[in-house]
Parts: sequence; C-alpha cells; structure tokens
Amino acid sequence: MRFTTERPESWQRCIACGRELTELDPRSRCPSCGGLLEIQHRPPKLTRPELIERFTERRGQRPGAAASGVWRFREVVLPSAVEVISHPEGNTPLLHREALDRWTGAEDLLLKHEGHNPTGSFKDRGMTVGVTQAVRIGATAVACASTGNTSASLAAYAAQARLPALVLVPANQVAMGKLAQSLAYGARTLLVRGDFDDCLRLVEEASQHLGVYLLNSINPFRLEGQKTIVLEMLQQLGWEPPDWIVLPAGNLGNTAAFGKALLEAHRWGLISRIPRLAAVQAAGAAPFALSFAEDFEHRYAVQAETVATAIRIGNPASFERAVHAIRETDGVVLAVTDEVILEAKAAVDGCGVGCEPASAASVAGVRELVQRGLMLPGQRAVAVLTGHVLKDPGMLLTYHRDTEPPPPGANRPIEIDASLGEVERVLRSV
Ligand code: F0G
Repeated sequence: MRFTTERPESWQRCIACGRELTELDPRSRCPSCGGLLEIQHRPPKLTRPELIERFTERRGQRPGAAASGVWRFREVVLPSAVEVISHPEGNTPLLHREALDRWTGAEDLLLKHEGHNPTGSFKDRGMTVGVTQAVRIGATAVACASTGNTSASLAAYAAQARLPALVLVPANQVAMGKLAQSLAYGARTLLVRGDFDDCLRLVEEASQHLGVYLLNSINPFRLEGQKTIVLEMLQQLGWEPPDWIVLPAGNLGNTAAFGKALLEAHRWGLISRIPRLAAVQAAGAAPFALSFAEDFEHRYAVQAETVATAIRIGNPASFERAVHAIRETDGVVLAVTDEVILEAKAAVDGCGVGCEPASAASVAGVRELVQRGLMLPGQRAVAVLTGHVLKDPGMLLTYHRDTEPPPPGANRPIEIDASLGEVERVLRSV
C-alpha cells in the first residue's frame, strides 16, 4: 500500500521495499518482505523559527546549575554561593495514579518522586549544597554516616568536586544498590560492625578529632537544599498548597527541612496557608512517633528494626528541629508496620511507579490518615517517594522470587525452555 491522497501525520514504512503501513498497524515487520519498519512524519505545519521557539520555551533548562531544581531557588537556599557543585539535580515529577487513590482511599493523591534524582534519592538536593559549602570553606575531606542513600549521594558529589570522601555504613544492613553506588563513585567505604546510630556517633567523633567536614543532615546546609523538594512541589502546583504533605521519617532531617521550607514560604508570601506535615516512621523504628504520642514531652531512643533499612534509625539526630516542624505545621507523626509498608510498596511498584521500601511508608501513611479520619474527603495530599525502586533489588528478589509461601503481591519469574509451546502455556495461564 502507498498513501496517495492526503497523508496522515505519521505512518510506518518498510526500509527495504518501501511498503507503507498505518501508524497503528501492530505488525512488527513488513508483511511483504519481512524488512524493518521505520516511522515517517509529515513535515510540521510550523515554520523553522516557530518550531525552534517552541522547542526553546519548552526546554526551560540550560546546561549546568541553571538546570538544577535546587539552584533555581538559590535566593532562598544559599544566595551567596557563586561556584556550585551541581549535577544538576531536582526537577522531579509529580505523579498521579488512580490505583494509589484506590489503595489509600485518598481522592487526589500526588506523588513527588525524588527517586528521579541523579543518584536515585532526595539526598542529592541536600548534597549539592553541602558539597558546595565544603568547597567554599576549603574542606580537605568530607564524611558521613548513612543507611545508604546519603553515602551514595556524598560519594557522587565528592567525586565531582574531587574531594576525598569517607562513608560509614552499618555492616550487612545497607541495600545492595546503595552500597554499590558508594563503591562505584570512589568513596572510602567503612562497614561498621554496629547500627546507623553507632555510625553517626563515630563519624561525629571523627569530624571533631580528624578534621573531616561532616555532611550528615545535622549539617544545616544539607537542609537548605532539601527545602527545595517542597518549593519545587509548590511551584508545580502553581503555589496552591496541598492540604497534607506526607513523608517517611528516619533521622528527621527531611521533616525539619520541610517545616522550614513551609514556614519560610508562608512568611515570604509564596503561599497563603501552610499544609499539614505527616511524618511516617516504621513501627520498629519509631522513637519520634512515641514522643509525638506524648506531645513531645520525652525524647526516646530505641533499638531500631525494620525492612525499610533507610529509616532503620533509633535515635534521630534532628529531633528538636523536627518537633518544631510538626508543631508549627499542625502536623502528625505516624508509625506503620513493615507488613503495611510492603503492601504499600507492592501497590506503588505494581502501577509502574516503583520506589524503595522506606519511600512506601509515606503512601502507607496516607492510607492511615484516611482511615483515622484525619484526611477529609476532598483534601489533597502529596506523598514524597524518597528513593528509587532499584536501590534495594535484594529485597525485591526476596519478596517476589524467594519468599515461601509467596506473599500476596509476589510476581514469580518463570524459567522455560526456548520453545513457543512453553511461551503459549505461560500466556494462557495469565
Ligand atoms: N527515605 C529514604 C529513602 C532515606 O534514605 C531516608 C534517610 C529517609 C527516607 C528519611 O529521611 O533521615 O531525613 O528523616 N536516609 C539517611 C541516609 C538516614 O543515610 O541515607 P530523614
């Protein structure tokens, strides 16, 4: 076939014999000669300058820091910084999936997916500012304790700045993807026989006695960068704030940064009302939720245990800052079980979005808010997905491939002989 009259906007054409197929023809090769197909387009109706103008205005990004979703807000992040160490980072999407509205019971749940940052977690937003600051003050080496994401991010930004990096992580408790990143980016990686809380104590001592610049979230410059998760989200929503912002909470740096961002945005007239924060902990690592239940009268330290290794933290460092954030935003602190975190993760993964286990705590938290009647019909929530699905492949394979009996959402891989009959058998059973 050849189109003779008015051509459609796009069609398929065989590169061998020139036969043409419609754009929606499902065949994967040319039906006449078996050749490969190529997509053809009618020339655009716009003139060349019109086309270039349209592409330029849509791009809105130039190379380097101007394209960063952190440094775009430099006036409220670190105005005096001139030379910055930027990947660039940020510019993460706001997503909506009906399946997650159904799973949580929320009417209009948006996901701010921070796993789309260069090293796959929100830590890059803090690290671009922290490492920029390290360079400004002439640091000779940088260090952090981590459950895995901070160390991956520090390793990458230190490599870019050509600064030696030292990272301390709990031995055998860091997700595979995160550990692999630290090694790949060249950080000196110490596997500490202890938990995250031991690592943090040790790295603080090291920074005091050995002169390395500390880049955990107790470093306030980190938090300035992490504020831009909120600023970028508000900008994406046309500065019309949601009713709730829900995030996973471990060491409480992010909770503190979110509170600061919201209070400043309100003070400086960027928003006219302040959304409520909901910080969500894993039930086995929930010292902040314990304190919240007693109106923050006591501070607790617990022996932390959870599948969400990123937030396996028993004695959060930014406790006081986070108390302020929750109080000032009329916020709440929730604890959700590992079972519910895994169910939420299966729901997030199963609709094609994907996130690491700790991130799913925020989606589980939204369901909890709805079930407790704290989130009212018609209210909008934004849940922050803090890390990428590929951060923890070990946990995914255990869940889908190895756990006996298979959990409800398990998607077992199926090994077959290389025969059509085998494929057909599988297809029939779907
Ligand atoms: N989600 C992910 C994926 C994390 O990696 C972390 C913290 C959090 C949530 C909690 O944020 O600590 O500011 O309350 N990860 C740190 C790390 C502890 O070392 O990567 P937080």
